[in-house]
Amino acid sequence: MHSVSLDIPVTADSAIVWHDDALYLLDQRLLPRQERFVRCDDAAGTAEAIRAMVVRGAPAIGITAAYGVALAARRRYAADPADWRQHLEEDLQHLAAARPTAVNLFWAIAHCRTLLDGVDGDPFLPLLAEARRMHQQDREMNRRMGALGAALIEPGAAVITHCNAGGLATGGYGTALGVIRAAHEQGRITRVYADETRPWLQGARLTAWELVREGIPVQLMGEGAAAARMAAGGIGWVIVGSDRIAANGDVANKIGTYSLAVAARHHGVKFMVAAPTSTIDPDMPDGSRIPIETRAEDEVLCCAGQPVAAEGAGAWNPVFDVTPAELVDAIVTEKGVIHAPDREKIATLLA
Ligand code: MRU
Repeated sequence: MHSVSLDIPVTADSAIVWHDDALYLLDQRLLPRQERFVRCDDAAGTAEAIRAMVVRGAPAIGITAAYGVALAARRRYAADPADWRQHLEEDLQHLAAARPTAVNLFWAIAHCRTLLDGVDGDPFLPLLAEARRMHQQDREMNRRMGALGAALIEPGAAVITHCNAGGLATGGYGTALGVIRAAHEQGRITRVYADETRPWLQGARLTAWELVREGIPVQLMGEGAAAARMAAGGIGWVIVGSDRIAANGDVANKIGTYSLAVAARHHGVKFMVAAPTSTIDPDMPDGSRIPIETRAEDEVLCCAGQPVAAEGAGAWNPVFDVTPAELVDAIVTEKGVIHAPDREKIATLLA
């Protein structure tokens, strides 16, 4: 997988680009130092880009997979117009195996499967049109969540966010960062404290990059500093995204989110999760059964590719955790806000 330059303006909203009949992904492993893209032409390349975190963030992973299905269908149909469906199913399974926690990946693939059931002839153009529609719809949903979430924020406070739930992690605008963008535009937020988010440093590299470009004051902190920052006062909300919300309102998100929620409740700081309804998994009864991805030990033992830990030490590297619903004050979706989420309120919203 090699990265290339593209002659287009690079913004937080250009993480996923359909260009020159191929899928280009802004290489988020290189940001903020380099703004380069990885080109994907087939399902294997797209799955590898998701696994390697060229593209990351639950909604962005789902949208990328939808484009990946279109790429796969183009190849399979060209190779065997009579018997392409069976081979395409192998590609769908390959894409689904790229990362286990973000339910948007499985949601997008299931959506493409349904569309395929009704396709007669070459499936490429209908699938590409559907991927583009999902991409555009995600941007619109984020705008709606931005407005709904911002309305919950009393003017004058600072907020804390974790990982990156911005334009880069979505089709554009962001979920948690969408709320922050909208609230800042309305003069409700004075400043953002962003957890640096070890080990991938999504906060330091990606969230800070987005907020600086938006002109939103941001201060980075090690996530271990968050409780002390809350104790110091002036924090209104913790605002995060999610990779999967269970039917009872338990929330899986980047490792460290749970400890932020515990600290927030202790300090009387409100805790908001902004996520589209495609992140809610109605088949997952509660958070205890959400598959939590574990990644390589080296991600913790090294920093920016350099070994930092004592030789011989091992590492525990689950990359998500589950925050129990009772610690969540509001889930903001494109369909509305759920205060103090529980099973019944979530079922009502989805119905
Ligand atoms: O491992 P990552 O970078 O894919 O994790 C991303 C997160 O945890 C985000 O908070 C989540 O996907 C929501 S993105 C809108």
